[in-house]
Amino acid sequence: MNSDLVTLGIETSCDDTAVALLRGENEVFCDLTSSQTAAHSPFGGVLPELASRKHQEAIIPLIRGALSVARLSPRDVGLIAVTAGPGLMGSLLVGVMTAKALSQGWGVPLIGVNHLEGHMFANILAHPGLKPPFLCLVVSGGHTEMILAVEGRDYVLLGSTRDDAAGEAYDKAAKLLGLGYPGGPEIERRAAGRDDGAFAFPIGMKGTKDVEFSFSGVKTSLRTLVERMKANGEEIPTSDICASFQRAVTEALLSKAGLAVRKTGVKKVAISGGVAANAALREGLTELGRENGWEVFLPPKRYCTDNALMIAAAGYAAYAAGVRSDLSLAPDPDWSVWREAERKT
Ligand code: KG4
Ligand code: ZN
Repeated sequence: MNSDLVTLGIETSCDDTAVALLRGENEVFCDLTSSQTAAHSPFGGVLPELASRKHQEAIIPLIRGALSVARLSPRDVGLIAVTAGPGLMGSLLVGVMTAKALSQGWGVPLIGVNHLEGHMFANILAHPGLKPPFLCLVVSGGHTEMILAVEGRDYVLLGSTRDDAAGEAYDKAAKLLGLGYPGGPEIERRAAGRDDGAFAFPIGMKGTKDVEFSFSGVKTSLRTLVERMKANGEEIPTSDICASFQRAVTEALLSKAGLAVRKTGVKKVAISGGVAANAALREGLTELGRENGWEVFLPPKRYCTDNALMIAAAGYAAYAAGVRSDLSLAPDPDWSVWREAERKT
């Protein structure tokens, strides 16, 4: 495999248009994101139709910009890796169609990448020594999944959320508190240095025997609290509520990380996805690792949220393993990359 191969990564699965150029496994040429946050912010979440139109506006200028920043020409690109799912259909379509057109026009091989495999590769990008088996908790606006990377590109889903994703819970809580979108960073900022024991929010699925998550209870509990305080004319202690909420979500994630280690015997634990940028989660996992002798892998915060570098890295690895896509590549909004874990009852 040519370790000088330049991969153009394209990511448009949700609300950020991202383009990156990567040489070999992990030499970063350029990593660009055009954020749509300002466009979606007034709606308190992502508006799918708006997202796909914004991707259409941004994608070509961003690819031009990436080549120009990296001082490369299309002739230097040896592989195009694009997110083909899971994600929003309209958003995925823009990236996949653009990648297919460029692949055909430039005569460059194409590879469709699974977005969640991409998130896992954020860790491999940052820690090139990380090899399976390892556990990866993917926590984002659309996903809360505990995945076991078994070997090569073989993944097992150990468990996921029964309702809201962890990032979705942050976003909904922020909306209930009248804070901006995305909610996670804003809640984290408010929570800093505040009393995380002020309110005892429920910790979803605590103590259950399966690696499973639930965040609807903590959200409902927060809503009930805020409504009651408003009805009583009380001032809402927003920052203490943020700290207590963050603690409940973090404890739920950490307790199931511990369960996944006990169930699999695998002591290498990575996290990824937007919520993996959260300092309370990063510190909590680091602490647990220290106490229990786990190796903990935290991607830099920049690699946690959606980006195209992780897509380029996953695409390069798949290409090296002999995987190829062709012009029949189609977006799959529900594409899962794993085998289901066998449930022992
Ligand atoms: O991975 P990502 O950029 O997009 C998806 O694939 O969903 O994740 C975005 C999600 C949002 O729900 C956002 O509120 C959450 O990640 N998030 C955070 C933080 N930064 C982003 N949640 C908690 N703390 C953060 N610092
Ligand atoms: Zn994502």
